Amino acid sequence: MERVSSSSSSLASLLLLLAFVAFSGEASPPSGSERPVLRFTGKRGEFKILQIADMHYADGQKTKCEDVLPEEVPNCSDLNTTAFIYRVFEAEKPDLVVFTGDNIFGPDATDAAKSMDAAFAPAIALKVPWAAVLGNHDQQSTLSREGLMQHIVRMAYSLSSINPEGLQIDGFGNYNLEVAGVEGSGLANKSVLNLYFLDSGDYSTVPDIDGYGWIKVSQQMWFKKVSSHLQKLYRSKPEPQKELAPGLVYFHIPLPELSSFIESNMTGVKQEPISSASVNSGFFTTMLEAGDVKAVFTGHDHVNDFCGELTGIHLCYAGGFGYHAYGKAGWSRRARVVSAYLEKTPSGSWGGVRSIKTWKRLDDKHLTTIDTETLWEKGNEVGGRRRKRITRGH
Ligand SMILES: *[C@@H]1O[C@H](CO)[C@@H](O)[C@H](O)[C@H]1NC(C)=O
Ligand SMILES: *[C@@H]1O[C@H](CO)[C@@H](O)[C@H](O)[C@H]1NC(C)=O
Ligand SMILES: *[C@@H]1O[C@H](CO)[C@@H](O)[C@H](O)[C@H]1NC(C)=O
Ligand SMILES: *[C@@H]1O[C@H](CO)[C@@H](O)[C@H](O)[C@H]1NC(C)=O
Repeated sequence: MERVSSSSSSLASLLLLLAFVAFSGEASPPSGSERPVLRFTGKRGEFKILQIADMHYADGQKTKCEDVLPEEVPNCSDLNTTAFIYRVFEAEKPDLVVFTGDNIFGPDATDAAKSMDAAFAPAIALKVPWAAVLGNHDQQSTLSREGLMQHIVRMAYSLSSINPEGLQIDGFGNYNLEVAGVEGSGLANKSVLNLYFLDSGDYSTVPDIDGYGWIKVSQQMWFKKVSSHLQKLYRSKPEPQKELAPGLVYFHIPLPELSSFIESNMTGVKQEPISSASVNSGFFTTMLEAGDVKAVFTGHDHVNDFCGELTGIHLCYAGGFGYHAYGKAGWSRRARVVSAYLEKTPSGSWGGVRSIKTWKRLDDKHLTTIDTETLWEKGNEVGGRRRKRITRGH
């Protein structure tokens, strides 16, 4: 800046103004068109999402680890959480990273903005587009839930939004992302994979109802509207599609329906109770009605990492990622990967999504991959709805 000559002073002042606008609190977040478009690439015909749940980041090196082996205690801090992000990025090279809440552990974070900057830094350093929602602990530091989301949407490579424009809606961080088909293919301008992000709240605000928050009716109505809009576009010209594009949903607090599984019908482990809200707000039924959702991914219960399928929708935990979060000493911190694969059309070009798989990566010596399973295959609904429609008795 000091080298700018007087002849370009007007340019310099314009740049200064732009810089001011960009860094002042009044700046509006980058609009959708300025953000990277998510898209399947023709090279791989694959789109990979890494879910990072419950980082519980606080003050970096000063913040010690919880529930690690005694010999690991002296040299373990938030920086181990950061190191794990770098390792799993290197191993998986995700196209999108989703942070599903309790990204920071408010009670121990001195400065919420700084803590978030440190927690999300690896995604920015490696230029990986990312999206975040809030948990129940994020707002327990120096920023409100609205303040946290305002900060998150302004960060580099963040695809997060606070809320849909012009709509009164509960919570902060309800938005959707579209993953377009391969450039140059018939589905290049359509979302072939619909991603939904919701704020599952923190704690109940209803007197006499204890416990965690839930997804409110206003949020469910928004979800339903977006889903049916995307389905309409998918069915319309050009290249009208007969089937729905699959949808994946991300939020923090598990749905009560996760209690429907026992060891014999889950992949992964259940090592603690399901800490859902104490009431059922009906979001599972809303997703069933919408018809496009194939899987739901939550966090919150760090030592549960299972997936189970209920009437055609998979409900999955990621398992705890962060070292300053409670866990189980000797049971590795982990992350969930979801990958969607495109089909080839009869003419040999790329079409819509053919299948969706998931697995987990452990933060052990070899970043072990475990519990790989298929969540959905086109035309072969795993444990599909048709079978479940048979009614018995009453
Ligand atoms: C702690 O980590 C540092 C940095 O990686 C390393 O040099 C040191 O040997 C470690 N100390 C222990 C006790 O593991
Ligand atoms: C945490 O990171 C330090 C420094 O790299 C390392 O020595 C230690 O083994 C890590 N601890 C765990 C539990 O991963
Ligand atoms: C997608 O949009 C681009 C830009 O508007 C256009 O050139 C292209 O023909 C469109 N492709 C399809 C398949 O609709
Ligand atoms: C899991 O298995 C148990 C025992 O067979 C059954 O009662 C339950 O309905 C199953 N749950 C799901 C979601 O399939």
